[in-house]
Amino acid sequence: MAGLISTAAKVEESLLVVRSDGCQQVTIKGSTNPLIVSMFFLGPPIAVLLLLSFTSSEVNAFLLATKNQNPRRLYQNHIAASTNKRWIKTVSMSSCCPKAPSPAAATAAAAASVTTEAVSHEDVSLYYGTTLSETKDLQTNACTTASAPPPHIRALLRNIHPDVIAKYYGCGLTIPDLLEGMTVLDLGCGSGRDVYLAAQLVGSKGRVIGVDMTPEQLNVATGTQKWHTEKFGYENTQFIRGNIERLEELDIEPNSVDIIISNCVINLCLNKEAVLAGCYRLLKPGGELYFSDVYSSARVPKSLAQDKVLWGECISGALYWNDFHNLSKKAGFLDPRLVEDSLITIQNKAIEQKVKSYSPKLQFFSATYRLFKLDSLEPHCEDYGQAVIYKGTMERCEGAFVLDSHHFMETGKVFPVCGNTWRMLHDTRFKDHFTFIGNFDRHYGIFEGCGTSLPYESAKENGSAACSPSGGGCC
Ligand SMILES: C[S@@+](CC[C@H](N)C(=O)[O-])C[C@H]1O[C@@H](n2cnc3c(N)ncnc32)[C@H](O)[C@@H]1O
Repeated sequence: MAGLISTAAKVEESLLVVRSDGCQQVTIKGSTNPLIVSMFFLGPPIAVLLLLSFTSSEVNAFLLATKNQNPRRLYQNHIAASTNKRWIKTVSMSSCCPKAPSPAAATAAAAASVTTEAVSHEDVSLYYGTTLSETKDLQTNACTTASAPPPHIRALLRNIHPDVIAKYYGCGLTIPDLLEGMTVLDLGCGSGRDVYLAAQLVGSKGRVIGVDMTPEQLNVATGTQKWHTEKFGYENTQFIRGNIERLEELDIEPNSVDIIISNCVINLCLNKEAVLAGCYRLLKPGGELYFSDVYSSARVPKSLAQDKVLWGECISGALYWNDFHNLSKKAGFLDPRLVEDSLITIQNKAIEQKVKSYSPKLQFFSATYRLFKLDSLEPHCEDYGQAVIYKGTMERCEGAFVLDSHHFMETGKVFPVCGNTWRMLHDTRFKDHFTFIGNFDRHYGIFEGCGTSLPYESAKENGSAACSPSGGGCC
């Protein structure tokens, strides 16, 4: 299939909506004068409808595409056009149609790239740029870190400018161990708190890049850059204004980033699948995406997703946890590991009521995951009779190393692991800190405890029926 729109209109806004009938609808909004629109579509089975409505200053074009059109490409073309704010001469659509996804993958993908008719990037930017001035303006506790930071992070926080701290809206601790010399990318860095935290840990030989789309937030980050350089004694930070759903447009080399962090941002994205795919592309093999975000116990209904405050507060854009797991795998992160989680209590009667009126059972969690880019990982944890011994050599982890919520490895103790965990330690920056026992020569079956029920421990605190597998499971 091939398609071409040529127009001399200035495209100002473009929005992809996944409609209930499964079609994707792109709405292009821009100014007229002069306006020429023409379209050509070749090759059945295609049904395309182009509607144009004119007012003196505005044109709206609606393009309805069939289900077998490549929605990502369609979306990217128009968003690219709208972001560049150029006078568009031609926008061409790729002739490639992706292989039809399986019904399950299509459902997860649709849920993950939720675009609502009510919430847009502009709404999110407005919320973080104008509606909120400081952390205390938040209406719920979703974008608030539940647990107190550990002592070494508290010490580093004291070196960060108060203006940056005042505009912190994160929901977890996104700073993994062993950062020295690393290249770190912070997606949705906001005013830069985590960038400046990581900058102190990567040191003068590492670097940290922050990306955000909201100018008011970035102004605080860049406005304090000199202050932080003087405080740290070196300059190793960079800030880029951009949309993390289009990481390929940023000037960052594929396979060049050691660690991607993100704190309470991906739930706000309209196309979560594109974020994960972009991360996979930028990470070095053996690198990881280590991030905190908000997840739900079931898919959030459209009625809640259209609420701009609920979305802005990091609640209604939350992914259902199993859609997230499946999307991660689809993006190439084959074994997502949960590090920690906590139940979000909302703590705003009116908002709680809104959520409860849909379903009293719908729960939200803030959770930190680590996703390794390792092509050799298997879809489930397989047992090859392997084990590791932690050497106790990582700074601040002399007694034990915590890989995730199921792997607390005490120094010097033989710790049985599945093949995936073995690879997460052997094929990454952690290798030198472990002794490895065994190989992949003999397979003993599935690693006991590998399961798929709601993974969040904090769900139990609220009397949920959900439980994760007991018996020292691995994932
Ligand atoms: C809840 S705040 C968190 C900010 C920061 N991570 C922190 O911990 O303070 C969400 C941030 O994500 C940014 N954001 C949301 N969607 C984005 C997108 N698609 N591209 C770039 N930035 C985005 C917003 O501008 C906002 O600064």
